[in-house]
Formats: sequence, structure tokens, C-alpha cells
Amino acid sequence: MGEREINPQALFRRPLREILYRLRDPALVADVLVRGCTTLWDRVSPSEFSRTYRQVMGHTMCSNARLRALHRGVRYVVQNEIRGDLVECGCARGGSAAFMALTLKELRAHRRLWLFDTFEGLPAPTQDDPDYNIAKLWTGGCAASVEEVQDFLTGLGVNNNVEFVSGLFQQSLPRSQVAEIALLHIDGDWYESVKACLEHLYDKVAPGGWIQLDDYGYWKGARRAVDEFLLKRGIRPHLEKVDYSGRVFRKTTESGTSDTPPQ
Ligand SMILES: C[S@@+](CC[C@H](N)C(=O)[O-])C[C@H]1O[C@@H](n2cnc3c(N)ncnc32)[C@H](O)[C@@H]1O
Repeated sequence: MGEREINPQALFRRPLREILYRLRDPALVADVLVRGCTTLWDRVSPSEFSRTYRQVMGHTMCSNARLRALHRGVRYVVQNEIRGDLVECGCARGGSAAFMALTLKELRAHRRLWLFDTFEGLPAPTQDDPDYNIAKLWTGGCAASVEEVQDFLTGLGVNNNVEFVSGLFQQSLPRSQVAEIALLHIDGDWYESVKACLEHLYDKVAPGGWIQLDDYGYWKGARRAVDEFLLKRGIRPHLEKVDYSGRVFRKTTESGTSDTPPQ
């Protein structure tokens, strides 16, 4: 991806067009209202989750509900000694990545954290994304450089054992050194992006591993990539609904069958 041009008109058009598009879905509107209330609570609550959430909330697009699920996921894989690293595909400004690293720190656990991203913003969606006309407005969005994310993690004291891999997932994942995965967080928005993550990483997820899909309910291409992959593999997991968008499942056996993540 080359230099991005900031077009002020496009910056304004994107949120407006997307808001109008999303308002057509009452379930999303209801979810946003509920999340607004729970986010207010997390701004003041003394709970362990809320304290960690407050450290990253300015750097993440993930809802507090999805971060709460990641919190459960990291604790689950550590406490149950699920083998492998933590992998995030799509880290943008590093909020959810920092959140996972802080959760590891709380648990005094040492796992490698892999962060895959273009670090130049979202690639263009394709015609395989059913909501292409809205999705394409995000091309180049969510951009943050490796240095910005590194600085953020360093400021929080969680920069050890983190591997940054720049480039399109389609090119970086087949060449990656990741061997085994305990927790896989897929947050790449588009059909081709999510498809590449599943095709290259699903088989590396250890039995019992936690798989979190950030965009299943929000971007239609992301959902399509997941549904097609599961169908092709003959896997029928229960996708636990985290919020309007997020889903979680656990890979329970070598053959890939899976069940509901524990609470
Ligand atoms: C919604 S943002 C991730 C949000 C982040 N997890 C957070 O906490 O805010 C999606 C990210 O996925 C990255 N991405 C999407 N498709 C990609 C692809 N095919 N290859 C590399 N990065 C990709 C984008 O660059 C962007 O940073």
C-alpha cells in the first residue's frame, strides 16, 4: 500500500453513510445502547477487567463486551494450560493486543503474542464483501504504524515477547513462524482477510484453543468467510454470541469439533 491521501470530504462521508446504513438494523442500535451503558460502568468500576479496559479503551475499536470475551479467553488458555501463543490478526492501534498482553501480565503468564497487520490501514474490500459499498469507504482506515503500536505497548510495560509481522495476511501468514496457537483473535473485517486467517491459522490452533471472531455480526464478508470455512471443513461449532458483532468458539479436539467456551 502506498502513501494514503487524507481527503476531508471522504472522512466526513464515511461515518455519515455508515451511520445511515447501520441505523436500518434495530438489533445493532439496541446493542449500541446497551454497550453505551456498560461502557459507562467500565469507566468507573473497580473490577480487574474494568481497570485493564480503561488502559486501552482509547486505542481500540473493540467493544468492552468483546474485550471481556478476550479476557475470559486469555484466562481460560492460561489456567487450562492450552498450548501455544496468542495471535491477533488485525491490531490497528494496538488496543486489543495491549489488552491481551496486560491480561497475561495480571496472570503472571508468559506467552508470545503475535500481531499481524498491514500497519498501513485496511486494504480494500472486494466484491466478495456483500456490503462492499460501505466497506470500501474504510479503505486505508484504522492505520497505525508498528512504531506507534510498539510505543503504546512499551508505555504500558507489556512490550516483551511481542512479534510484529507487517504485510497483507494473504502474504504474511503462509510464511509466518507461528507454530501453535492457544488463542486466535481474528479482527480483519473483510472476506479475503478473514478467509486467509482461517485457512492459514485454524489448523495451528491447539485442541482447546480459543477462537474469537470480531466482525462476524458486523461485516457481512467476515461472516461469509467464517460460514464458508466451517462448512467446507464440516465443522459445526456453537458460535457464542458476545455482542452484536463478536463470536467465540473453542476447538476441542484434534479433528476440529468444538463447543461452547466456558464462562
Ligand atoms: C478493525 S481494525 C482492528 C482493531 C483492533 N483489534 C483494535 O483493538 O482496535 C482491522 C485491522 O485489520 C487490518 N487488516 C485487515 N485486513 C488485513 C489484511 N488482509 N492484511 C493485513 N492486515 C489487515 C487493518 O490494517 C486494521 O488495522
